[in-house]
Amino acid sequence: LFSAIDMAPRDPILGITEAFNADTNPAKINLGVGVYYDDNGKVPLLQCVQKAEAKLMEQLSPRTYLPIEGLAAYDKAVQELVFGADSAVIQDKRAVTVQAIGGTGALKIGADFLKRFSPDSHVFISDPSWENHRALFESAGFTVNNYTYYDEATHGVNFEGMLASLRKMAPGSIVVLHACCHNPTGADLTQDQWGQVIDAVQQGGLIPFLDMAYQGFGAGIAEDGAVVRRFVDAGGPLLVSNSFSKSFSLYGERVGALSVVASSAEEAARLLSQLKRVVRTNYSNPPQHGGKVVATVLATPELRGLWEEELAGMRVRIKQMREDLVAKLAKAAPQRDFGFVREQVGMFSYSGLTKEQVGKLREESIYAVDTGRICVAALNSKNIDRVVDAIAKVL
Ligand code: LMR
Repeated sequence: LFSAIDMAPRDPILGITEAFNADTNPAKINLGVGVYYDDNGKVPLLQCVQKAEAKLMEQLSPRTYLPIEGLAAYDKAVQELVFGADSAVIQDKRAVTVQAIGGTGALKIGADFLKRFSPDSHVFISDPSWENHRALFESAGFTVNNYTYYDEATHGVNFEGMLASLRKMAPGSIVVLHACCHNPTGADLTQDQWGQVIDAVQQGGLIPFLDMAYQGFGAGIAEDGAVVRRFVDAGGPLLVSNSFSKSFSLYGERVGALSVVASSAEEAARLLSQLKRVVRTNYSNPPQHGGKVVATVLATPELRGLWEEELAGMRVRIKQMREDLVAKLAKAAPQRDFGFVREQVGMFSYSGLTKEQVGKLREESIYAVDTGRICVAALNSKNIDRVVDAIAKVL
């Protein structure tokens, strides 16, 4: 049996981290994976997280199983963050939330759930999208197609193309949308464009699945989440996956959630019962620690305020790195305009570097995704000059 099994290719994103880890050059730089590093090149352990952990240590609790859907306080805090504390869907008990193993786990629960109840739907993801979107939905058994999204010429969104794609989709198609900080391009829709997308989704009878892994890295927590509320106001079914990997710097704790909006409390109860079946047959119930930390921070006003400050600090530093990268590249490679990097939003820049150029950067121990995606959040005042020089050299 095993002798016939082929070697699988390396993961397009995490495989880069594997290659980076194996590199012995002390000056190596990982611009591949979407991880925020501080100006010293360290993954921060947020103060709010440390304080929440200290609080939890004071009241050590036994490690019993969590409910299948996760910690109640966590699910409640997620709903309030994602939909807004005063949201009618929370008051009417029309939203159900299950704690998930990171944002990826949330997508997987959603994909398995949808496959069970809408098995013939096609899934549409943006062109391009996060590499794992296709793999996740295909592994759940769906046919995955692309909708038009990125315009290489403008480094922005081909919005007419996107609308045309949405209008061609069969009713019941599942459309995966990046709520903010589009991964990998960093090109987001304007508020007006979102309005038109919501109309197209409604008129076409499509099932929107919002992936919100970077809330707070665009314009702000509420601003980035606004699109979820607009979808809720428009009515109809809605799935939202979210993650605290980046916004709480809790990558290894795997803390995320899937929320689904139903048309009534009674329908919501049925949906929750089915989501629990999906969780139970995948991993039974989620781990405790990360969920407790996030719930503690979000429910404690002082810690929540601290979190908002720390998240704002990360957002501002990334924006500064965009400014610096553009300014330094303008000097080192004046033949090419990188001004678009300043307009992009979130952790990433779709730099326009080709696969060959990315390969040449790798020879200098600078790692990026083959598509040319670079993680701006991994740049800092100490490594940026080396990155700029290397990019200028490979252009
Ligand atoms: C990324 O896009 O780099 C992150 O979302 C990490 C991952 O799991 O791929």
